[in-house]
Amino acid sequence: MAAAKRAKDSAASSFVSEERLWRRHMEMAKIGATAKGGVNRQALTPEDARARALLAEWARGLGFACAMDAIGNVFIRRPGAQAAAAPVISGSHTDSQPSGGRFDGISGVLAALEALEAMNQAGIETRRPVEAAVWTNEEGSRFASGCMGSQVYTEPAKLARMLAMKDLDGMSLKEALAATRAAMPTLPERPLKSPIDCFVELHIEQGPVLEATGNVIGIVTGIAGSRRFEVEVLGEDAHAGTTPRARRKDAVLAASAMIQALHKMMADPEDEVRFTIGQIRVKPNAMAVVPGYVLFTIDFRHQSEEVLTRLGDRIEGVCRAQAGPCEVTLTETRRAPTKMFSGLVPDAIEAVTRKLGVPYMRLFSGAGHDARYVADLCPTGMIFVPCEKGISHNEAENAKPSDLAAGARVLADTLVALANR
Ligand code: GLV
Ligand code: MN
Ligand code: MN
Repeated sequence: MAAAKRAKDSAASSFVSEERLWRRHMEMAKIGATAKGGVNRQALTPEDARARALLAEWARGLGFACAMDAIGNVFIRRPGAQAAAAPVISGSHTDSQPSGGRFDGISGVLAALEALEAMNQAGIETRRPVEAAVWTNEEGSRFASGCMGSQVYTEPAKLARMLAMKDLDGMSLKEALAATRAAMPTLPERPLKSPIDCFVELHIEQGPVLEATGNVIGIVTGIAGSRRFEVEVLGEDAHAGTTPRARRKDAVLAASAMIQALHKMMADPEDEVRFTIGQIRVKPNAMAVVPGYVLFTIDFRHQSEEVLTRLGDRIEGVCRAQAGPCEVTLTETRRAPTKMFSGLVPDAIEAVTRKLGVPYMRLFSGAGHDARYVADLCPTGMIFVPCEKGISHNEAENAKPSDLAAGARVLADTLVALANR
């Protein structure tokens, strides 16, 4: 009995503190806080830099070394007995959507730090190093690509293209990254694509399934594939008061016809297609000018590669058919295949979840995550925790302290098991 108690008490999960984890969430939520209770902490803004600096301060206070790679990913290291062994890594992102919530991304980063701290308190020595990571620009709202840090880490050839990307104000990612570095303590350089033993990402579910089924842990079976496009519609600026209809090349009119037709083409009775036009830019964006230019984005997701190819390849034809007197250019900015997770990491998560007696289920993710790209390098899995009513990408996003702590407990013991196998 005494031996069993000792064994239980020395588990990292026994040292996860719900109060500390929640306090750190609330500290982070102050950075970029919005009036409606969410956060606006877009990638590589001064707010994102402050969140990273605070994280590095906490990490250093706990005695962990930090490093940064060429795309700004941050790694917080807890050494292992085998110093040169590839690390087991866990983490997510500090950036948010413009009207983001307090949990998307940051919960995975804070759970990973909590797991490292719990390992310290439990006095655990792992064979492999264990690291908490921040991947740069997961959201892709300021700089278009999304999951940029994990993409560049796993495929460094993409670095130059990503560094050249510009935000709406014309600032390049390279400049924004330099500003972020300057706002943080100097960190040693970590080479891109350095080996990772395995990767576990904790995230809020961003959907309603766990809450509705009374489960606290979701073991993620895979992530839906996606295709992203930019559609540019080129018309001609003209005077709103004098230009007759026959002479107009109105890019807004053409774009709105395209948008209606695209939504019609994507309609499916099973409601499995996820098709979103979430960003529209108009130039010159002036009330008295017939608009000569529109750019709109397309975010298209589905579990089936066949559907992604078949419907995605029809987009250009639909746009051309609706262009009227305007010209249209379609650019595919990213294609990510559906990624399934199985074997080592999901099985390790399941074994720990069962041992801790936490209600769980396996489920598929419609949302994208850095884990999709890291999985190209090493065995990977994800832990979902519930969020209120499944609301996410919304300032009202909410999660329970007890659920976040349950997720961190499962994460902590999973990382130890993986680092010691
Ligand atoms: C990530 O935030 C996504 O858009 O799936
Ligand atoms: Mn996220
Ligand atoms: Mn998100």
